[in-house]
Amino acid sequence: MPKNARAAEIKAIGIGKSFGHFRALNDLTLDIGRGEFLALLGPSGSGKTTFLMILAGFLPPSDGRLFSDGVDITDRPAELRAAGMVFQGYALFPHMSVEANIAFPLKVRKRPAAEIRQRVAEMIARVGLKGHETKLPSQLSGGQQQRVALARALVFEPGVLLLDEPFSALDKSLRGQMQAEMKRLHQETGTTFVFVTHDQSEALALASRIAIFNHGELLQVGTPEEVYDRPANRFVAEFLGEINMLPLNNVRQENGAATGLCEDRTITVRGATDVTGDAVLAVRPEYMTIRSEAESGENGIVATTTASTYLGAATKLDLLTRQGTRLTVSVPNDVAATALRGGNSVWLTWPAERGILLAR
Ligand SMILES: Nc1ncnc2c1ncn2[C@@H]1O[C@H](COP(=O)(O)OP(=O)(O)OP(=O)(O)O)[C@@H](O)[C@H]1O
Ligand SMILES: [Mg+2]
Repeated sequence: MPKNARAAEIKAIGIGKSFGHFRALNDLTLDIGRGEFLALLGPSGSGKTTFLMILAGFLPPSDGRLFSDGVDITDRPAELRAAGMVFQGYALFPHMSVEANIAFPLKVRKRPAAEIRQRVAEMIARVGLKGHETKLPSQLSGGQQQRVALARALVFEPGVLLLDEPFSALDKSLRGQMQAEMKRLHQETGTTFVFVTHDQSEALALASRIAIFNHGELLQVGTPEEVYDRPANRFVAEFLGEINMLPLNNVRQENGAATGLCEDRTITVRGATDVTGDAVLAVRPEYMTIRSEAESGENGIVATTTASTYLGAATKLDLLTRQGTRLTVSVPNDVAATALRGGNSVWLTWPAERGILLAR
């Protein structure tokens, strides 16, 4: 990851926010590394924007302290923080040209006119807006407005760029294009990026780490691989992509592996958490294989196919276990055809290290 001397390192300790009796954020502790690309991910109302506003200095926290490069900035007003902000819906100044919008943060900071001209021109080139300098925001497309917002937030070389759902107003193809541009801008500037999204695939694709929120609580923070492969709880497991959940009973821990009973079959989970007793076993569909038989000692469960959906490159099968758990797998089309021919009853198997053991 590129290192940038200006990129800020942020530490949030025990941050809480109450609106009257309502607790929007609770005891949030999080380190954001220099030059990191962090995604704040969670459902609507989980506190993502509230946390971003606290980072920006637009909202004072009710509890906790906020540090930037080791300095306590909790009580520092927004205009004295080195944070660039891209608001949801961009919040461009409608009566100002593209140029004037981008120049605004430099004017506020009373930079010399020559420097402003040069930096604005550089920024316009960098985000691909040459030829649009004198237009008003209303004369721009959605993607172009997005670029102006990014340029305005980056022009004063902020220590951290905060983005609230920056792509939600864009259609799918433009979204993909802007995501790639944001990744490039992150690499070029080396600045710390914190962006809010409720799109899990966007977070997995862009972020170096993901912080997952629900009901004002930070549930887990980790690299995309960590949160996807080792979710800390059921909410995180289900929020990130598809996952199959099976009851696993009488779980015991022995020699670094856990064993338990899943519909009368002994199942092993390796590299698992220390959960014991009656638990839940989660397995991503892509790690499950359809077979006509399972070896003894192998992780597997019998299920019946209830529906199949042809997806072009693969077929999605919906299955039901003997005790009524619904499962989904996506398999090559020829495998699906064989499975559907064989009386619809199949074995689903998976490697012991691909099981995720979670508290029920
Ligand atoms: N000024 C306020 N006064 C009262 N309640 C508020 C205020 N701002 C936010 N809330 C509440 O705090 C909770 C968290 O809001 P927040 O905007 O942080 O959610 P979010 O995760 O950004 O959601 P979304 O994905 O919908 O934007 C919500 O229940 C919201 O209604
Ligand atoms: Mg929000």
